[in-house]
Amino acid sequence: MSEIGRPLTVPALQAMKSRGEKIAALTAYDACFASVMDAAGVDMILVGDSLGMVIQGHESTLPVTLEQVIYHAASVRRGAAGPLLVVDLPFMTYASIQQAQESAARLVREAGAQMVKLEGGRHRVDVVRALAVQDIPVCAHLGLLPQSIHRLGAYKVQGRDDRSAQRLLEEAILLQDAGASLLVLECVPALLANEITAALAIPTIGIGAGPGCDGQVLVSYDMLGLTPRCPTFCRNFLEEAAGIGEAFSLYVRAVREQRFPASEHSY
Ligand code: KIV
Repeated sequence: MSEIGRPLTVPALQAMKSRGEKIAALTAYDACFASVMDAAGVDMILVGDSLGMVIQGHESTLPVTLEQVIYHAASVRRGAAGPLLVVDLPFMTYASIQQAQESAARLVREAGAQMVKLEGGRHRVDVVRALAVQDIPVCAHLGLLPQSIHRLGAYKVQGRDDRSAQRLLEEAILLQDAGASLLVLECVPALLANEITAALAIPTIGIGAGPGCDGQVLVSYDMLGLTPRCPTFCRNFLEEAAGIGEAFSLYVRAVREQRFPASEHSY
């Protein structure tokens, strides 16, 4: 059991990294799932724009709007007071500093977000700084960037060669120095994620980034086996449980005890 009290705060997440306590995060999109996650001891809930794929049935996250994210995040907040609430800024809602500040302010005011998440590296540094100086905590997101799917061409592992690995490490430091409070690393080799985690003072949260990150996040519908294909980096926790609440508890325990992710879930 975590020694950190609830409701969880941004400084509490930082304290978990300092104490070497792993952070267990899941995505949620509604009050009912969120309350079951709260009872299971999930530390952080991400209202991800993955909702475009798992809730709305789109091929990508790109169609998701700010209004839709606010609707889902406000529902999650009503269902769960304990976990830290991180909410995604959808595609093209942070294209300028002013737009980012207005969008993020709506997530905080209307949805109860404690932190906002945005995708991208060095070209997002000014936006991260502009939010951080307004005391809006920011979670940066590097590696596989679903909002960049048309540039990337496919959902695939990033940072495999030395040059792109070095670029990701540099960008992680730039984002931290600009004021990011947290960093999601999606689909990067485990050794690179270890290096980034060791170089940063802020916590890293991995998804397909190996066991060395300070915490883990999964799309809840993936780890319950509800999506058609369980990604390589995922595990179906419902297969091992009597119900959804127990599946969430098993996940929290496996992350805390560093039994998930295992080597077969890593690149
Ligand atoms: O949208 C989302 O759910 C995410 C996670 C996959 C990290 O960004």
